[in-house]
Amino acid sequence: MRIHNQKETSHLQQSNQRKQSKKKRLLISSFLLLITIGLTACGGGTQQESAQLEGPADAVQVYKKSCLSCHAADLSGKMGPETNLTTVGDRLTKDQIVTIIKEGKGRMPSQSGRVSDEDAEKVAAWLATKKEQAK
Ligand code: HEC
Repeated sequence: MRIHNQKETSHLQQSNQRKQSKKKRLLISSFLLLITIGLTACGGGTQQESAQLEGPADAVQVYKKSCLSCHAADLSGKMGPETNLTTVGDRLTKDQIVTIIKEGKGRMPSQSGRVSDEDAEKVAAWLATKKEQAK
């Protein structure tokens, strides 16, 4: 009689454990699903582009308004490799960038008519921090 009881309890325990591990698996797979959905959403175009444009809101604002059309939403440049600004801080100082904005450079026309001195300073200070090692 005793032995029988023990067998029964152990059987019950086993089936309980099985149920629990089923629950666990379900939980884990729904977590994985959520993570996958999250990653897919983050990989979407617009979010990735704005992630690249992290910085002081006013500098990013100036960039979007006055520079994005030629230098692209992710700084990668729309008019060839010379317009890639993703690591421009490695090549140019803030003051040099301000000069380029005011006077233009090569195929880039002067932006002084469209960008105020103050805005040029802001966007240049931000772009000067775009360096290879910071990535
Ligand atoms: C009409 C298109 C256009 C606009 C608008 C424009 N650029 Fe440019 N920019 C260019 C081109 C084209 C070049 C490449 C010049 C060359 O070397 O021929 C360039 C080059 C540069 C460079 C030099 C990059 C390097 O590595 O030498 C900087 C810095 C720069 N632009 C910043 C800006 C900023 C900041 C703005 C906004 C205030 C801006 N540009 C707006 C077209 C533009």
